[in-house]
Amino acid sequence: MKSIAIFASGTGSNFAALQAKFGDDQSGIHIACMVCDHADAPVVGKAKAAGVPVITINYRDYPSKAAAEAAIVAALPPVDMLVLAGFMRILGPTLLDAYPQRIVNLHPALLPSFPGRTGIEDAFAYGVRVTGVTVHYVDAGIDSGQIIAQEPVRVLVNDTIDTLAARIHAVEHKLLPETVQQLLEQD
Ligand code: GAR
Repeated sequence: MKSIAIFASGTGSNFAALQAKFGDDQSGIHIACMVCDHADAPVVGKAKAAGVPVITINYRDYPSKAAAEAAIVAALPPVDMLVLAGFMRILGPTLLDAYPQRIVNLHPALLPSFPGRTGIEDAFAYGVRVTGVTVHYVDAGIDSGQIIAQEPVRVLVNDTIDTLAARIHAVEHKLLPETVQQLLEQD
């Protein structure tokens, strides 16, 4: 059995997709915990409802990012991979060095285009006809680590941000769990 920790900050639809695929442990992958940097984020309720242990870290309670990350490292159970599913923070060396090549992130655009917090909006505003979803290893940059998997999503003529975002999220909900499973099966 492999195990993962999911990191998330907000809605948690990707947490829910990972939970749907791995929650019964039948796949050989166990969700050991969910780490959140906002105690009142909707993803916290989703994790609790699913019986997944929640580690909440309020970065403002710590003197530095390194101290907050050290608290996360200390609180984490043994896991094979950290899966960032909408975790809206740049990781520092404390977490990166504790899990070398074992942290993956989901991004709602085709990197290296449109990194950052607003990948869907930025791609839409630029006017690209194709955008998509990326899963990549995390390094010290902003959405800059080695790409593992990508899937394109066409921008349709009548798309709004909302209709485009809905199709991107649907792709995310398949691509992230599948990629995590493939990586851990190869491990
Ligand atoms: C997802 O679209 C994910 O790709 C994005 O945050 C959203 C979280 O949604 N991440 C980034 O933009 C990282 N740069 P969720 O909370 O419903 O899973």
